[in-house]
Amino acid sequence: MAQNPRILVTRRWPEAVERVLAERFDASFNVSDTAMDAAALAEALRSFDAVLPTVSDRLPASLFDATDIRTKILGNFGVGYNHIDIAAARARGIAVTNTPGVLTDCTADIAMSLLLAVARRAGEGEREVRSGQWAGWRPTHMIGTKVTGKTLGIIGFGRIGKAMAKRCHFGFDMDVVFYNRSKIDTAEASRYGARQMDTVEEVLAAADFVSLHCPGGGENRHLINAQRLAVMKPQALLINTARGDVIDENALIEALENGTIRGAGLDVFEAEPNVPERLRVLDNVLLLPHLGSATEETRTAMGMKVVENVTAFFEGRQPPDRVA
Ligand code: DGY
Repeated sequence: MAQNPRILVTRRWPEAVERVLAERFDASFNVSDTAMDAAALAEALRSFDAVLPTVSDRLPASLFDATDIRTKILGNFGVGYNHIDIAAARARGIAVTNTPGVLTDCTADIAMSLLLAVARRAGEGEREVRSGQWAGWRPTHMIGTKVTGKTLGIIGFGRIGKAMAKRCHFGFDMDVVFYNRSKIDTAEASRYGARQMDTVEEVLAAADFVSLHCPGGGENRHLINAQRLAVMKPQALLINTARGDVIDENALIEALENGTIRGAGLDVFEAEPNVPERLRVLDNVLLLPHLGSATEETRTAMGMKVVENVTAFFEGRQPPDRVA
Protein backbone atom coordinates (compact mmCIF):
# COMPACT_ATOMS: atom_id res chain seq x y z
CA MET A 1 0.00 0.00 0.00
CA ALA A 2 1.59 3.26 -1.15
CA GLN A 3 0.06 5.47 1.52
CA ASN A 4 -1.88 4.15 4.48
CA PRO A 5 -5.60 4.37 3.63
CA ARG A 6 -7.76 6.40 6.01
CA ILE A 7 -10.20 4.11 7.74
CA LEU A 8 -12.97 4.73 10.25
CA VAL A 9 -14.03 2.09 12.78
CA THR A 10 -17.57 3.06 13.77
CA ARG A 11 -17.68 1.31 17.19
CA ARG A 12 -15.14 0.01 19.72
CA TRP A 13 -13.68 -3.34 18.61
CA PRO A 14 -11.64 -5.87 20.60
CA GLU A 15 -8.34 -4.26 21.60
CA ALA A 16 -6.17 -6.78 19.73
CA VAL A 17 -7.96 -5.98 16.47
CA GLU A 18 -7.85 -2.21 16.95
CA ARG A 19 -4.09 -2.56 17.50
CA VAL A 20 -3.62 -4.33 14.15
CA LEU A 21 -5.80 -1.76 12.39
CA ALA A 22 -3.77 1.09 13.88
CA GLU A 23 -0.54 -0.56 12.68
CA ARG A 24 -1.75 -1.14 9.12
CA PHE A 25 -3.90 1.89 8.41
CA ASP A 26 -4.39 5.54 9.19
CA ALA A 27 -7.17 4.47 11.55
CA SER A 28 -9.73 6.56 13.46
CA PHE A 29 -11.65 4.94 16.29
CA ASN A 30 -14.98 5.88 17.81
CA VAL A 31 -13.61 6.17 21.35
CA SER A 32 -16.98 7.13 22.87
CA ASP A 33 -18.54 3.97 21.31
CA THR A 34 -21.83 5.75 20.68
CA ALA A 35 -23.86 4.79 17.62
CA MET A 36 -23.28 7.11 14.67
CA ASP A 37 -26.25 8.95 13.17
CA ALA A 38 -26.96 9.50 9.46
CA ALA A 39 -25.10 12.82 9.35
CA ALA A 40 -21.99 11.32 10.96
CA LEU A 41 -22.07 8.36 8.57
CA ALA A 42 -22.50 10.66 5.55
CA GLU A 43 -19.46 12.63 6.73
CA ALA A 44 -17.54 9.36 7.20
CA LEU A 45 -18.29 8.34 3.59
CA ARG A 46 -16.92 11.70 2.44
CA SER A 47 -13.75 11.57 4.54
CA PHE A 48 -12.47 7.98 4.74
CA ASP A 49 -11.21 5.43 2.21
CA ALA A 50 -12.81 2.64 4.21
CA VAL A 51 -15.63 2.68 6.74
CA LEU A 52 -15.94 -0.36 9.00
CA PRO A 53 -19.55 -0.43 10.21
CA THR A 54 -21.60 -2.78 12.37
CA VAL A 55 -25.26 -3.69 12.63
CA SER A 56 -25.87 -0.48 14.64
CA ASP A 57 -25.03 1.71 11.60
CA ARG A 58 -27.85 2.31 9.13
CA LEU A 59 -26.57 2.85 5.59
CA PRO A 60 -29.67 3.31 3.39
CA ALA A 61 -29.61 4.16 -0.33
CA SER A 62 -29.94 7.91 0.41
CA LEU A 63 -26.47 7.96 2.02
CA PHE A 64 -24.92 6.79 -1.23
CA ASP A 65 -26.51 9.61 -3.27
CA ALA A 66 -23.85 12.16 -2.31
CA THR A 67 -21.50 13.17 -5.13
CA ASP A 68 -18.37 13.53 -3.00
CA ILE A 69 -18.01 10.01 -1.60
CA ARG A 70 -14.41 8.99 -0.85
CA THR A 71 -15.12 5.55 0.64
CA LYS A 72 -14.19 2.60 -1.57
CA ILE A 73 -14.97 -0.25 0.80
CA LEU A 74 -17.36 -0.96 3.68
CA GLY A 75 -15.75 -3.69 5.78
CA ASN A 76 -18.74 -4.79 7.81
CA PHE A 77 -18.10 -6.28 11.25
CA GLY A 78 -20.78 -9.00 11.18
CA VAL A 79 -22.15 -11.66 8.88
CA GLY A 80 -25.55 -9.97 8.43
CA TYR A 81 -25.51 -6.84 6.28
CA ASN A 82 -29.15 -5.90 5.81
CA HIS A 83 -28.38 -2.54 7.49
CA ILE A 84 -26.46 -1.61 4.32
CA ASP A 85 -28.24 -0.96 1.02
CA ILE A 86 -26.03 -3.28 -0.98
CA ALA A 87 -27.50 -2.35 -4.37
CA ALA A 88 -26.87 1.36 -3.73
CA ALA A 89 -23.30 0.70 -2.53
CA ARG A 90 -22.64 -1.47 -5.58
CA ALA A 91 -24.07 1.20 -7.89
CA ARG A 92 -21.54 3.68 -6.43
CA GLY A 93 -18.74 1.16 -6.99
CA ILE A 94 -18.24 0.64 -3.26
CA ALA A 95 -17.14 -2.85 -2.22
CA VAL A 96 -18.84 -4.47 0.79
CA THR A 97 -17.48 -7.38 2.83
CA ASN A 98 -18.82 -9.35 5.81
CA THR A 99 -17.52 -11.90 8.34
CA PRO A 100 -19.03 -15.35 7.71
CA GLY A 101 -17.97 -18.60 9.35
CA VAL A 102 -16.37 -17.35 12.56
CA LEU A 103 -19.59 -16.72 14.47
CA THR A 104 -21.49 -19.89 13.54
CA ASP A 105 -21.00 -21.84 16.76
CA CYS A 106 -21.48 -18.94 19.14
CA THR A 107 -24.69 -17.83 17.45
CA ALA A 108 -26.04 -21.39 17.52
CA ASP A 109 -25.06 -21.54 21.20
CA ILE A 110 -27.14 -18.44 21.93
CA ALA A 111 -30.09 -19.92 20.03
CA MET A 112 -29.70 -23.08 22.09
CA SER A 113 -29.45 -21.04 25.31
CA LEU A 114 -32.68 -19.21 24.43
CA LEU A 115 -34.45 -22.43 23.51
CA LEU A 116 -33.51 -24.13 26.79
CA ALA A 117 -34.08 -21.04 28.91
CA VAL A 118 -37.50 -20.23 27.52
CA ALA A 119 -38.63 -23.88 27.60
CA ARG A 120 -37.56 -24.22 31.23
CA ARG A 121 -38.64 -20.71 32.26
CA ALA A 122 -35.14 -19.74 33.38
CA GLY A 123 -35.75 -16.00 33.00
CA GLU A 124 -38.86 -16.09 35.16
CA GLY A 125 -37.11 -18.31 37.70
CA GLU A 126 -34.12 -16.01 37.92
CA ARG A 127 -36.34 -12.97 38.40
CA GLU A 128 -38.22 -14.77 41.17
CA VAL A 129 -35.07 -15.69 43.10
CA ARG A 130 -33.48 -12.26 42.70
CA SER A 131 -36.62 -10.50 43.89
CA GLY A 132 -36.78 -12.61 47.04
CA GLN A 133 -40.19 -13.99 45.99
CA TRP A 134 -39.23 -17.68 45.86
CA ALA A 135 -41.41 -19.59 48.33
CA GLY A 136 -39.50 -22.89 48.02
CA TRP A 137 -39.68 -26.16 46.08
CA ARG A 138 -43.08 -27.60 45.28
CA PRO A 139 -44.28 -30.11 42.66
CA THR A 140 -46.31 -27.60 40.69
CA HIS A 141 -43.90 -24.68 40.75
CA MET A 142 -42.92 -22.97 37.48
CA ILE A 143 -43.53 -25.93 35.21
CA GLY A 144 -41.89 -25.68 31.82
CA THR A 145 -41.86 -27.90 28.78
CA LYS A 146 -39.44 -30.75 28.03
CA VAL A 147 -36.84 -30.19 25.31
CA THR A 148 -35.33 -33.66 24.77
CA GLY A 149 -37.04 -35.67 22.04
CA LYS A 150 -39.19 -32.82 20.71
CA THR A 151 -39.29 -31.52 17.12
CA LEU A 152 -37.20 -28.52 16.09
CA GLY A 153 -38.16 -26.53 12.99
CA ILE A 154 -35.43 -24.43 11.41
CA ILE A 155 -36.03 -21.64 8.93
CA GLY A 156 -32.83 -21.10 6.92
CA PHE A 157 -30.41 -24.02 6.71
CA GLY A 158 -27.14 -22.14 6.27
CA ARG A 159 -24.12 -22.47 8.54
CA ILE A 160 -25.91 -21.37 11.72
CA GLY A 161 -29.07 -23.35 10.97
CA LYS A 162 -26.96 -26.48 10.52
CA ALA A 163 -25.03 -25.82 13.73
CA MET A 164 -28.35 -25.48 15.57
CA ALA A 165 -29.63 -28.73 14.01
CA LYS A 166 -26.47 -30.52 15.14
CA ARG A 167 -26.86 -29.35 18.72
CA CYS A 168 -30.54 -30.26 18.91
CA HIS A 169 -30.37 -33.60 17.11
CA PHE A 170 -27.19 -35.02 18.59
CA GLY A 171 -27.37 -33.30 21.97
CA PHE A 172 -31.09 -33.46 22.68
CA ASP A 173 -32.39 -36.33 20.51
CA MET A 174 -34.64 -33.96 18.64
CA ASP A 175 -36.27 -34.61 15.31
CA VAL A 176 -35.17 -31.73 13.07
CA VAL A 177 -37.12 -30.41 10.08
CA PHE A 178 -36.23 -27.31 8.12
CA TYR A 179 -37.24 -24.93 5.36
CA ASN A 180 -34.57 -23.54 3.07
CA ARG A 181 -35.19 -21.58 -0.13
CA SER A 182 -32.82 -23.75 -2.17
CA LYS A 183 -32.77 -27.54 -2.11
CA ILE A 184 -30.25 -29.04 0.34
CA ASP A 185 -28.77 -32.38 -0.64
CA THR A 186 -30.54 -35.10 1.39
CA ALA A 187 -27.26 -36.71 2.43
CA GLU A 188 -25.96 -33.32 3.62
CA ALA A 189 -29.17 -32.67 5.60
CA SER A 190 -29.01 -36.09 7.23
CA ARG A 191 -25.47 -35.38 8.48
CA TYR A 192 -27.24 -32.96 10.83
CA GLY A 193 -30.12 -35.35 11.52
CA ALA A 194 -32.39 -33.01 9.58
CA ARG A 195 -35.08 -33.30 6.90
CA GLN A 196 -36.09 -30.59 4.44
CA MET A 197 -39.74 -29.59 4.01
CA ASP A 198 -41.23 -27.74 1.06
CA THR A 199 -42.83 -24.78 2.80
CA VAL A 200 -42.37 -22.56 5.85
CA GLU A 201 -45.92 -23.52 6.89
CA GLU A 202 -45.12 -27.24 6.95
CA VAL A 203 -42.17 -26.60 9.26
CA LEU A 204 -44.20 -24.30 11.53
CA ALA A 205 -47.01 -26.84 11.81
CA ALA A 206 -44.66 -29.72 12.65
CA ALA A 207 -42.36 -28.03 15.16
CA ASP A 208 -42.45 -27.74 18.94
CA PHE A 209 -39.62 -25.21 18.68
CA VAL A 210 -39.04 -22.94 15.69
CA SER A 211 -35.61 -21.34 15.31
CA LEU A 212 -34.95 -18.63 12.70
CA HIS A 213 -31.61 -18.62 10.88
CA CYS A 214 -32.32 -16.80 7.61
CA PRO A 215 -30.93 -13.36 6.65
CA GLY A 216 -32.96 -10.26 7.44
CA GLY A 217 -34.30 -7.65 5.06
CA GLY A 218 -35.70 -8.03 1.55
CA GLU A 219 -38.16 -10.89 1.10
CA ASN A 220 -37.56 -12.13 4.63
CA ARG A 221 -39.01 -9.00 6.23
CA HIS A 222 -42.00 -10.16 8.32
CA LEU A 223 -41.58 -13.73 7.09
CA ILE A 224 -43.15 -14.69 10.41
CA ASN A 225 -46.41 -12.76 10.45
CA ALA A 226 -49.81 -13.20 12.14
CA GLN A 227 -50.94 -15.86 9.63
CA ARG A 228 -47.80 -17.91 10.09
CA LEU A 229 -47.82 -17.56 13.88
CA ALA A 230 -51.35 -19.01 13.75
CA VAL A 231 -49.98 -22.07 11.93
CA MET A 232 -47.62 -22.86 14.84
CA LYS A 233 -48.71 -25.27 17.56
CA PRO A 234 -50.23 -23.45 20.56
CA GLN A 235 -47.55 -25.01 22.77
CA ALA A 236 -44.70 -24.06 20.42
CA LEU A 237 -41.83 -21.69 21.19
CA LEU A 238 -40.23 -19.30 18.69
CA ILE A 239 -36.51 -18.51 18.82
CA ASN A 240 -34.96 -15.62 16.87
CA THR A 241 -31.21 -15.02 16.66
CA ALA A 242 -31.33 -13.92 12.99
CA ARG A 243 -32.67 -10.40 12.50
CA GLY A 244 -35.53 -8.61 14.23
CA ASP A 245 -37.35 -7.75 11.01
CA VAL A 246 -37.83 -11.44 10.11
CA ILE A 247 -40.71 -11.35 12.62
CA ASP A 248 -43.59 -8.89 12.55
CA GLU A 249 -42.98 -7.81 16.16
CA ASN A 250 -46.52 -6.48 16.71
CA ALA A 251 -48.02 -9.73 15.44
CA LEU A 252 -45.70 -11.66 17.76
CA ILE A 253 -46.69 -9.55 20.77
CA GLU A 254 -50.34 -10.26 20.03
CA ALA A 255 -49.66 -13.98 19.61
CA LEU A 256 -47.82 -14.03 22.95
CA GLU A 257 -50.51 -12.01 24.72
CA ASN A 258 -53.32 -14.18 23.32
CA GLY A 259 -51.62 -17.53 23.80
CA THR A 260 -51.49 -18.28 20.06
CA ILE A 261 -48.02 -19.68 20.86
CA ARG A 262 -46.50 -20.60 24.20
CA GLY A 263 -43.53 -18.25 24.21
CA ALA A 264 -40.48 -16.84 22.49
CA GLY A 265 -36.76 -16.35 22.98
CA LEU A 266 -35.42 -13.27 21.19
CA ASP A 267 -31.88 -12.01 20.71
CA VAL A 268 -32.80 -9.50 17.97
CA PHE A 269 -35.53 -6.87 17.57
CA GLU A 270 -37.11 -4.78 14.85
CA ALA A 271 -35.86 -1.38 16.09
CA GLU A 272 -32.80 -2.16 18.18
CA PRO A 273 -32.02 -1.11 20.82
CA ASN A 274 -35.68 -0.22 21.38
CA VAL A 275 -37.71 -3.14 22.65
CA PRO A 276 -41.44 -2.42 22.99
CA GLU A 277 -42.78 -2.15 26.52
CA ARG A 278 -45.54 -4.64 25.63
CA LEU A 279 -42.85 -7.24 24.93
CA ARG A 280 -40.78 -6.38 27.98
CA VAL A 281 -43.66 -6.94 30.38
CA LEU A 282 -44.46 -10.43 29.14
CA ASP A 283 -43.28 -13.38 31.22
CA ASN A 284 -43.41 -15.86 28.35
CA VAL A 285 -40.53 -14.26 26.45
CA LEU A 286 -36.84 -14.33 27.14
CA LEU A 287 -35.04 -11.25 25.83
CA LEU A 288 -31.32 -10.85 25.14
CA PRO A 289 -29.48 -7.76 23.85
CA HIS A 290 -28.19 -9.16 20.50
CA LEU A 291 -25.52 -11.38 22.07
CA GLY A 292 -25.28 -14.03 19.30
CA SER A 293 -21.61 -13.51 18.49
CA ALA A 294 -20.61 -11.93 21.80
CA THR A 295 -17.67 -14.06 22.92
CA GLU A 296 -14.08 -12.90 23.21
CA GLU A 297 -12.92 -15.48 20.67
CA THR A 298 -15.61 -14.76 18.10
CA ARG A 299 -15.56 -10.97 18.27
CA THR A 300 -11.78 -11.02 17.84
CA ALA A 301 -12.09 -13.45 14.90
CA MET A 302 -14.76 -11.23 13.32
CA GLY A 303 -12.49 -8.20 13.62
CA MET A 304 -9.55 -10.08 12.14
CA LYS A 305 -11.74 -11.09 9.19
CA VAL A 306 -12.45 -7.43 8.52
CA VAL A 307 -8.73 -6.70 8.72
CA GLU A 308 -8.07 -9.43 6.11
CA ASN A 309 -10.83 -8.16 3.84
CA VAL A 310 -9.76 -4.53 3.94
CA THR A 311 -6.05 -5.35 3.66
CA ALA A 312 -6.71 -7.53 0.59
CA PHE A 313 -8.80 -4.75 -0.97
CA PHE A 314 -6.15 -2.06 -0.56
CA GLU A 315 -3.42 -4.43 -1.76
CA GLY A 316 -5.39 -4.94 -4.96
CA ARG A 317 -6.47 -8.51 -4.14
CA GLN A 318 -10.02 -9.87 -3.99
CA PRO A 319 -11.32 -9.59 -0.39
CA PRO A 320 -12.17 -13.12 0.78
CA ASP A 321 -15.66 -12.19 2.01
CA ARG A 322 -16.85 -9.76 -0.63
CA VAL A 323 -20.64 -9.50 -0.90
CA ALA A 324 -20.73 -6.49 -3.27
C1 DGY B 1 -23.95 -10.59 12.70
O1 DGY B 1 -22.79 -10.93 12.54
O2 DGY B 1 -24.75 -10.52 11.78
C2 DGY B 1 -24.36 -10.25 14.10
O3 DGY B 1 -25.73 -10.32 14.24
C3 DGY B 1 -23.88 -8.85 14.45
O4 DGY B 1 -24.22 -8.00 13.42
